[in-house]
Amino acid sequence: MSKNEKVSKSVIRRLPRYYRFLGELLREGITKISSRELAERMSVTASQIRQDLNCFGGFGQQGYGYNVSELREEIGAILGVNAKHAAVLIGAGNLGRALAVHLDYAKYGCRLCGIFDSNEKLTGASLGGIRVSPLSDLESFCAKAKPVIAILCIPKDSAPDICEKLISLGVKAFWNFSHYDMPQKNLPGVTVENVHLGDSLMALCYGITNSETEKTESPDQM
Ligand code: NAI
Repeated sequence: MSKNEKVSKSVIRRLPRYYRFLGELLREGITKISSRELAERMSVTASQIRQDLNCFGGFGQQGYGYNVSELREEIGAILGVNAKHAAVLIGAGNLGRALAVHLDYAKYGCRLCGIFDSNEKLTGASLGGIRVSPLSDLESFCAKAKPVIAILCIPKDSAPDICEKLISLGVKAFWNFSHYDMPQKNLPGVTVENVHLGDSLMALCYGITNSETEKTESPDQM
C-alpha cells in the first residue's frame, strides 16, 4: 500500500465501515467478493468502493474481486487497529463508566490503561478491571504508561485545563465527549475527534420531520 497524504477525511471515515462489513463476511465464511456485491451489501455504489480503495493503491484484481481477509487486513493496517495505542480516560461519571466498561478497546487499536477523576470519592473504584485514580497521580501515570489518547468525559468547563496538561504530558489524540471545542489550529500534531451523540439524534429528528413534511405536502407544494 502506498501512503497517500491527500486521502480525504470522508474516505477515512468510511474505512471503519468497510472493515466492519468485511469482518462480517469472514464470519459468514465468504472469502472473495466483487465490488458490486460488496456495494449491494453496504448500500453504496461499486464505483464509490473502487474509488475509496484506489486512494490506497487499490486492492482488487480485475475480474476476480477482493480477497476479503486480505482487504480487511489492509484496511485494518491503514486504520492502525493492531496498534494497541495506550489510552487514558478522564472523568469516571455516567458516560466515563459506560465507555470504560462496555467498549472493547482492543478491537479498535487501543488499550485503556488508566482512568482518572477529580472526585476523590471515586478513587479505587474498579471500572472494567481498571482502578480509578486521583488527578494527583496523572503525571506519574503518564510518565510510566505514556498514553497517546485521552478520552474526555468531563464537563466542558473542566476540559481546557486538563487538555493542556495532557498535551504537556505527551497525549497526541483526544476522543472528546466534553462539548469543549478544542482549538485544533493552535495544537499542531494533536488530533481531535469530537463526539456529540446529540448531533446524531438531531439528524434523526431531521429525518423524521422531513419525511413527515413530504407526506403532508401536496404535490404542487413540492
Ligand atoms: P457526570 O457528572 O456523571 O461525570 C463527570 C465526571 O467528571 C465526574 O465524576 C466528575 O467528578 C469528573 N470531573 C469533572 N472535572 C474533572 C476533571 N477536571 N478531571 C477529572 N475528572 C473530572 O457526567 P456524565 O454524564 O458522565 O457526562 C460527562 C460530560 O460529558 C458532561 O459534561 C456531558 O455534558 C458530556 N456528555 C457528552 C455527550 C456527547 O455525546 N458528547 C453525551 C453525554 C454526556
